[in-house]
Amino acid sequence: MAQNSPAHTIIAIDGPAAAGKGTLSRRIAEEYGFHHLDTGLTYRATAKALIDRGLPLDDEAVAEQVALDLDLTGLDREILSAHAIGEAASKVAIMPAVRRALVETQRRFAAKAPGTVLDGRDIGTVVCPDATVKLYVTATAEVRARRRHEEMVAKGQAADYATILDDVRRRDARDMGRADSPLKPADDAHLIDTSEMSIEAAFQAAKVLIEAALKTK
Ligand code: C5P
Repeated sequence: MAQNSPAHTIIAIDGPAAAGKGTLSRRIAEEYGFHHLDTGLTYRATAKALIDRGLPLDDEAVAEQVALDLDLTGLDREILSAHAIGEAASKVAIMPAVRRALVETQRRFAAKAPGTVLDGRDIGTVVCPDATVKLYVTATAEVRARRRHEEMVAKGQAADYATILDDVRRRDARDMGRADSPLKPADDAHLIDTSEMSIEAAFQAAKVLIEAALKTK
């Protein structure tokens, strides 16, 4: 079904790293019985494939080929969630040819029936500008670093809050400052600041916005 057909629903969720959009997106997809794609995983998988093959992260033609060959069915969130892969992904993500290849794959996914939830940095602005509803989920850098730190400690991984906060800020700067598809809210996105909100409260806030959008569709 065409992306912008009235019968097809696309929920676009954007925001910076560790703002809670992943958990929120999965909850929303489950609630509405929609397919979910964490588009960050597509950039992470591209970066990991380059690292595994000993290839450079900044050769655009090589990275484009890897991005074109990406198979969405092989994405393993557990393996790809490593902090270092996130860093590498944000370097690969500045290259326009890589973005073009991955956006094409993401758009094909977005058209799946009966509806889809995509989360990332540029879903509402570039990948699905005609999405049924657009949410921009954010939180302060300190809150996001604290959550990442708690997650890593819970998994028994070594974690230093100050280092994580530095990384969060550096990644924000790279994602917001790049020339191609920088991270920013779409003009018609609804802002959800989760700094002082539980995931359940964020989910309820999102649901109200989604229900309203579905009614006027
Ligand atoms: O969301 P996640 O932390 O997994 O994303 C990893 C990196 O991939 C981001 O820092 C960003 O540079 C890039 N990305 C992107 N566009 C998306 C999703 C992720 O540029 N739609």
